[in-house]
Amino acid sequence: MRWLMLMLCVWAGPALAQPGGSAVGEEPSVLPDGEGRDEVFYGCTACHSSALIRRSRMSRTAWDGLMDWMVEKHGMAPLEGEDRRLVVDYLARHFGAAAAPARARSPFLN
Ligand code: HEC
Repeated sequence: MRWLMLMLCVWAGPALAQPGGSAVGEEPSVLPDGEGRDEVFYGCTACHSSALIRRSRMSRTAWDGLMDWMVEKHGMAPLEGEDRRLVVDYLARHFGAAAAPARARSPFLN
């Protein structure tokens, strides 16, 4: 009986940790390769799918501010010092405002 409880926890654990459920089965390779990718993947997809990150385009300042928002509003463990620089640099490099698709930037299509 004990092993059954254990199996249940192992099975249900990840599903409960991810509200949307879509992060189940994601691999770090869903994010563009680069310095800081694994830190971002493992640090950020514990709570939600990487899609929330991949669909976002923000300046470095905005990503940096988002870290505080994630800590204050959503209970993320505070990210400081070198780790924070690594994560924010990665996000700004790969999901920066300049990387926005043309459609998002066009004044005619807004
Ligand atoms: C402790 C849990 C937790 C962690 C860790 C976490 N987030 Fe979040 N995040 C949330 C919650 C909760 C939301 C709101 C989800 C929703 O709206 O469905 C959210 C929303 C977001 C959004 C969407 C914001 C918007 O405009 O709607 C982005 C982008 C995001 N997170 C990025 C990150 C990044 C990058 C990291 C890693 C540095 C991270 N999150 C780590 C809990 C977390």
